[in-house]
Amino acid sequence: MFGLSILSAVAITIGSFTLFIFLRQVVFKPAVCKSKRRLNGKVVLITGANTGLGKVTAEELAARGATVYMACRNMEKAEQARQDILSKNPEAKLILIKIDLNSLQSVKACAEEFMKENSSLDILVANAGFGAFQHNLTEDDIEWHLGCNHLSHFYLIRLLLPCLRKAGTESLKSRIVVVSSKAHWGSGNLDYDSLQRGKHWHAYGQSKLANILFCRHLSKLLVGENITVNSLHPGVIFTDFPRHIMPVPKIFLAPFKLMTLTPLQGAQTQIWAAVDESLEGVSGKFFAGCAEASTSSCAKNEEEAEKLWRWSCSKTRLPLDL
Ligand SMILES: NC(=O)c1ccc[n+]([C@@H]2O[C@H](COP(=O)([O-])OP(=O)(O)OC[C@H]3O[C@@H](n4cnc5c(N)ncnc54)[C@H](OP(=O)(O)O)[C@@H]3O)[C@@H](O)[C@H]2O)c1
Repeated sequence: MFGLSILSAVAITIGSFTLFIFLRQVVFKPAVCKSKRRLNGKVVLITGANTGLGKVTAEELAARGATVYMACRNMEKAEQARQDILSKNPEAKLILIKIDLNSLQSVKACAEEFMKENSSLDILVANAGFGAFQHNLTEDDIEWHLGCNHLSHFYLIRLLLPCLRKAGTESLKSRIVVVSSKAHWGSGNLDYDSLQRGKHWHAYGQSKLANILFCRHLSKLLVGENITVNSLHPGVIFTDFPRHIMPVPKIFLAPFKLMTLTPLQGAQTQIWAAVDESLEGVSGKFFAGCAEASTSSCAKNEEEAEKLWRWSCSKTRLPLDL
């Protein structure tokens, strides 16, 4: 009797698991960027391009002919990623550039280095990000999720705006793509004080909310210019992302691999946002699954977006106006 119930429990578990995988991979097929747009002569910068979604995005955009700046904090890992991509595509034009989002000084140095070699930038993908349960501060004393995932990207984009302005034309605007997450749902309005004191358990969600609020506000300020800015949720993907949350060997997370998207599947929405012809002139939107998606009501709050803009300008000592 006991043996039979164990057997049924095992059968139910395996059955549900198989059904889930079938639904995930066959019925709810991941979206695909169908655009074949070439990027010959275009310059792209991607943060966090040494692994996960950033690396796949670098590989895919380089395959379309772009010169891709891989902005990474660990240059050894970055060089390994570059070699990996080159082994599949020896023609790929990949340039490594150092950035540590934990430090505004490093972000500034990255922008300066980029501008020494380039006067224009066609596509900027603000992809790097992390989520951890611990409280910490960046080198500039900002809560580290908000600091790395939002403020450093805000700073980088503002510093590179002249290059984005130079690249964009009326018929082919330059694009800013910010990788956010549906994890912003339920994080409430941004609570700078309690984040700073380490009292916000969902600091990651708040930083991803900041990504969306920032894009919405920036898109308003860029109306009439040849630059678009959009944010997105890539899906739930099997990357190195959980390493800060559950520091266990990747092998123990293997079952999740079957239930989640591959990095190539997960990168589709950001590749689509970066290249798809149908998005020409589309700005201030939030995407998921290569389509427009809805955000939480907090992410639509214009007062909060303006408050974040003011806070970000004061922390980076940049003027409120572009
Ligand atoms: N995976 C998912 O299911 C999922 C879901 C929703 C949203 N996202 C978002 O998608 C983006 C990419 O995530 P992923 O899944 O590809 O994660 P990943 O494999 O962990 O890659 C994250 C990248 O960000 C870089 N990074 C982290 N902190 C940095 C810092 N302080 N300075 C410079 N680079 C830093 C990492 O560099 P190191 O290798 O040096 O750490 C790595 O290159 C993130 O913004 C994440 O929030 C992911």
